[in-house]
Amino acid sequence: MHSTVSHEAGPLYRTLADRLEGMIGSNSLRPGDRMPSVRQFARQQRVSVPTAMHAYATLETRGLVEARPKSGFFVRASKADLVRAPKIITSSPKVTDFSSLDPLDSIIAAHDNPNLVPLGMALPDPELLPGEKLARSMSSIARSLGARSTNYDMPPGSECLRRELARRSLDWGCALQPEEFIITNGCTEALSLALRAVCSPGDTVVVESPTYFGLTCILRELQLKALPIPVDSQNGLDLDALETCLRRNKVAACALIPNFHNPVGYVMPEDRKRRLLEIVGKRDIPVIEDDIYGELNHTGDRPRCLKAFDRDGLVVLCSSFSKNLAPGYRVGYVSAGRWHAKVMRLKIAYSLANATLPSLVISEYLRNGGYDRYLRTLRQTYRQQVERMREAVVHSFPEGIGLSRPQGNFVLWCELPPQVDSLVLFKQALRAGISIAPGPLFSPDGGFSNCLRLNCGYPMTPTVERAVTVLGQLAKQLARS
Ligand SMILES: Cc1ncc(COP(=O)(O)O)c(C=O)c1O
Repeated sequence: MHSTVSHEAGPLYRTLADRLEGMIGSNSLRPGDRMPSVRQFARQQRVSVPTAMHAYATLETRGLVEARPKSGFFVRASKADLVRAPKIITSSPKVTDFSSLDPLDSIIAAHDNPNLVPLGMALPDPELLPGEKLARSMSSIARSLGARSTNYDMPPGSECLRRELARRSLDWGCALQPEEFIITNGCTEALSLALRAVCSPGDTVVVESPTYFGLTCILRELQLKALPIPVDSQNGLDLDALETCLRRNKVAACALIPNFHNPVGYVMPEDRKRRLLEIVGKRDIPVIEDDIYGELNHTGDRPRCLKAFDRDGLVVLCSSFSKNLAPGYRVGYVSAGRWHAKVMRLKIAYSLANATLPSLVISEYLRNGGYDRYLRTLRQTYRQQVERMREAVVHSFPEGIGLSRPQGNFVLWCELPPQVDSLVLFKQALRAGISIAPGPLFSPDGGFSNCLRLNCGYPMTPTVERAVTVLGQLAKQLARS
């Protein structure tokens, strides 16, 4: 048997299928390419014919190859492969004051309505998460702690969780120490502490355009101004535009999502991560890195964090377990570099402590719960759900749309014909029992009016499929009117 194959975890056929999938993902095998015959593949990989067949059948189930009668297996060229990437046109960057915008209310209200098809908030189906296992662990930890389970978890927060984070940080390209982490109430608190630590009211913060709407809300409440810089759907932030803006504006910080950006899904390539740090390093501008989707690569390896390239302690890394374990546990963290002591003081001032049990449960799951195995399955599931959503959207939406092809995470960014107003579509969709996230939420100045973001955190059930069909019909009507 081939030694490189035999040493990897999981059944051999799946390892082979994952490898081939990686090759399809990286375009080494392109849509329409003929795969080696099953026998040839078995010979090449020194495996049995049934194992090779099983690997191909797995790829077929994943929708990546198709068997053509008497011709063998071919890499599938789906209609979704042909759709163009979004152009992500932004007006020229200008500093925005948030005081007149109130984007989040309706989408939060929609989250609490079980009668809506949940394509709005970027949330996974709870059924995909190990809720029952975590609950059992919670009761066992609570029993063993007894009365102490009601104690505060004082900053910097659970030491065993910080040790687990330090160990995992090797995988992010960093080698952080437990003392470099502060546990927070989700990524939201991490972001807001980070912004408070590095900025003062009235300061200007560079954000990507489009960006995560929760970030724009925090900026607004902290009386910070946003300076949105255009991104492209492959490489992320336009660094030339960033340099120009930094020459013209006094900027206190950048707040970015370099890995599997929400909503567009790109990963900023490593050479760009380095160049970004050179640009901000010259001016000593801190970067707040939101890495909440970093673990959710669809293929290949997890991308390294911007923090992995940080030599000056300028990057404040923020993340949480909300997208991959338990959003309701509210366990997040910040590694604040130079601002560690300030973030500690702010954490104590604004929330004093964390809940004890959720941090311990997450840390136990990271240590003994089979987290890596679980993550491998979750990544596959998200990838498949995103692919199915792309197919469904291309099938039902008007011709000529742009659609993101995220390399990780579970949201899609869709650019509709310019005449479609996604706020109107949002209201019509709500009346039809569907929640979506309209484009202007992702822009501090109300741009992206013809765009929307779709959550792919739920499987493509007939209900979700019908919802996408209805959205497509509504979008077509708006495109005609
Ligand atoms: C990019 C990004 N950052 C932060 C958050 C919020 O994370 P948390 O639930 O951990 O506060 C979200 C949630 O959608 C997100 O998409």
